Amino acid sequence: MREWTREERYRVLQGPEDIRALYKRVQKSAYRQRYHVQPITGLSSDPNGFALHKGVWHLCYQWCPWGAVHGLKYWYHVTSKDLVHWQNAGIGLAPDRDYDNRGAHSGSAIAHGDDLIFFYTGNHRDEDWVRTPYTCAAVLGEDGRPRKLDAPLFGPRDDHSEHQRDPKVVWNADKQKYYIFLGAQTLDKRGCVLVYESERPLSGWRFAGELKVPGYEAFGGMWECPCIVNVGGRDVLIFSPQYTRLPGRGESTNHNIYLIGSMDYDTLTFTPDGPYRHLDYGFDFYAAQSAAIQPAADSDAAGDGARAILIAWIGLPDNHYPTEAEDWEGSLSLPRELRVQGGRLLQTPLRALEGLREAEIAPDGTLPASCELEVTAPEGDFDLNLFTHADGSGGLQLHYDATRQVCRVDRAGMDRRFNQQLGEALELPLDAPLKNLRVFIDRSSTEIFANDGEATFTAHTYPTERELHYAASAGVGLRVWPMARSVTDEFVL
Ligand code: FRU
Repeated sequence: MREWTREERYRVLQGPEDIRALYKRVQKSAYRQRYHVQPITGLSSDPNGFALHKGVWHLCYQWCPWGAVHGLKYWYHVTSKDLVHWQNAGIGLAPDRDYDNRGAHSGSAIAHGDDLIFFYTGNHRDEDWVRTPYTCAAVLGEDGRPRKLDAPLFGPRDDHSEHQRDPKVVWNADKQKYYIFLGAQTLDKRGCVLVYESERPLSGWRFAGELKVPGYEAFGGMWECPCIVNVGGRDVLIFSPQYTRLPGRGESTNHNIYLIGSMDYDTLTFTPDGPYRHLDYGFDFYAAQSAAIQPAADSDAAGDGARAILIAWIGLPDNHYPTEAEDWEGSLSLPRELRVQGGRLLQTPLRALEGLREAEIAPDGTLPASCELEVTAPEGDFDLNLFTHADGSGGLQLHYDATRQVCRVDRAGMDRRFNQQLGEALELPLDAPLKNLRVFIDRSSTEIFANDGEATFTAHTYPTERELHYAASAGVGLRVWPMARSVTDEFVL
């Protein structure tokens, strides 16, 4: 693992020539994704500014250009017409103001009239490295580049710690107000959300209060990337609590969970209907952000009212991945359509992804490097091992235990092992017997959707040249489609 000095991590990008050679080198990696958004160089982490505006989907990711390291963060901007094919649009937000001198940190976007407005955290640090987080805004210009306001919208509160960031902006029609949900930490180091309100998106912001979430007054040390979204009439609160271990999640102290309930803007209380659940049960899933959309006429959810699409960072803070040696890492998840059913969030891969399927191939035990598998489960226990050697040994081993209704995924059999200290096996619990799986494999990630999206499992996977096979128990039904490329991966700054 390379050691980085602060100067190296926080170098300011002067122009394309600073990273063109790095880009060319990174392009040669065997692990470049074909249908997932990934960094042009360096590190990508949280999805930011995800919104639909004038028929175009805008999405940015936290980007450190220099390598697989959390240093000076930019927003890198990508766009799409269908959430499947993505073009690189260049730098969205650069840390080029005094108020964001050490990073344009995470945030969201909202369409307001003809404008698309981005809200983000200006991570200011002084010479003694003391941090002041500002909540800032930028408006998308005619040329497709965001223009920052001259001054931040507001600064931090001194009755909370320096951890106040990741504005998620929402419009509440009943109140005729905009609200910002800000991830925060109390002075005694408990995670929470601060709420701000304004009648206008670019001025007049005032502190409304700390969000009350009964039962979650002492749950983790910082809530990163809070997100509130209405799905089919229910409110869903999503956040990434840190500095805490949760049952069944190995040694990890970073999580991404959700609560279904109702949001009362009069009392600033989010009342959960039931217990929290993990958004995803895999090794690498964090900082998820959703964008609300109107139901498409051909959607399964048409008629259910408001819908939402969710995208997350395939990765976790503090983790290290094999492509670190190639000076890049990270990727964004596939877009998932959200629905609420039986106290759970159903997450299904966007239907338009089926358009990436190439001609179906007969299941012969080989695994294309980018593919989708549709799996029909047999009765009872079964095994499905992905990325095995030709003789069926090793790989990412999935075992379904029908008595417990749990899928156990163990990555200890892979040639490339990493983050072993967090544990190498995790369980995907189900409410009903396992009937089907959809598995999306790209060159460095695997996403598993169980029982039509009842529970999901996402992880980075880095198969070697001999891990191109799979092995399944008798009775497992399998269909295999190689997937077409849908990210352009061009050098645009
Ligand atoms: C989450 C996070 C955010 C922050 C950003 C910085 O991964 O720590 O809280 O804004 O990353 O890159």
